[in-house]
Amino acid sequence: MNDDTRAHLSFSASTPTPARIYDYYLGGKDNFSADREAGERVMRVFPQAPTLALANRAFLLRVVRYCVQAGIDQFIDLGTGIPTSPNVAEVACAFNPSVRVIGVDNDPVVLSHQRAHPSSTPGGYTIVEGDVRRPWAILADPRLNEVIDLSRPVAVLCVAVLHFVPDADDPAGILDTFADAMTAGSYLAVSAVTSTDTDPAVITQIEDAYKNASAPLIFRTADQILSWFDPLDLVHPGLLDVSQWPTGIGVPTDVRILGALARKRWRAHTSRTRPAGGAG
Ligand SMILES: C[S@@+](CC[C@H](N)C(=O)[O-])C[C@H]1O[C@@H](n2cnc3c(N)ncnc32)[C@H](O)[C@@H]1O
Repeated sequence: MNDDTRAHLSFSASTPTPARIYDYYLGGKDNFSADREAGERVMRVFPQAPTLALANRAFLLRVVRYCVQAGIDQFIDLGTGIPTSPNVAEVACAFNPSVRVIGVDNDPVVLSHQRAHPSSTPGGYTIVEGDVRRPWAILADPRLNEVIDLSRPVAVLCVAVLHFVPDADDPAGILDTFADAMTAGSYLAVSAVTSTDTDPAVITQIEDAYKNASAPLIFRTADQILSWFDPLDLVHPGLLDVSQWPTGIGVPTDVRILGALARKRWRAHTSRTRPAGGAG
């Protein structure tokens, strides 16, 4: 990655951003006409984009419930997005009011809205500026370390973010950096859009719709996404279409996001072992 990449983007209403386009899919109001135009271009070839966004949210909240029930009380929510409800902190704190969540994002609209509308959850939500392409900078941020104790198990959420990170910025290496920093018993959740079993003409049109955005949208094969979890233990049901996850919305879509939750094992092994307990 370019050394001069700043943690945050500059604000521009005329350049669509992933966060604001997603907000449009979800029916939010924190988007501009350029974002809506990009979203409409996607919906012309993939009308179920809002359904897929909702399915991704359902996956995110499902893995949060699983982690908090497994005893996790601290979350790092990478690419946290524009505030929406229910959110990670609300769902986690419903199970354990002392849960702490740190949100990380590089979009100025996300940062300002998250600061303006702090979560009302008792455990609390803190937002910090950060770019996932600089994982070491996020992990070294003193504000993160005030909230998160990396010597204790943590859940790192990287949901619908890495498809905005080009191969040149090494998505697998980014996840390795977080996984290395997590203590045993920690969890990593990832979802990303897949090219597997997807019409190549539709992929091209969607990629085109994001071409003028602040970040490209990159489709990856199921095998590529699966490889990001090495050498963690996948939690049942493994890597799956987010809409098919247990308690997911169950509506199949023509373009799919695949999601999985994995756990850092207590002892290092060199090959994938049996799945940990199920999230189903
Ligand atoms: C599609 S939204 C997903 C929001 C939330 N994680 C969810 O799944 O509902 C993608 C989010 O990732 C953020 N994002 C994209 N690239 C990023 C980067 N390089 N560093 C930090 N955040 C990024 C965007 O600003 C946006 O808020």
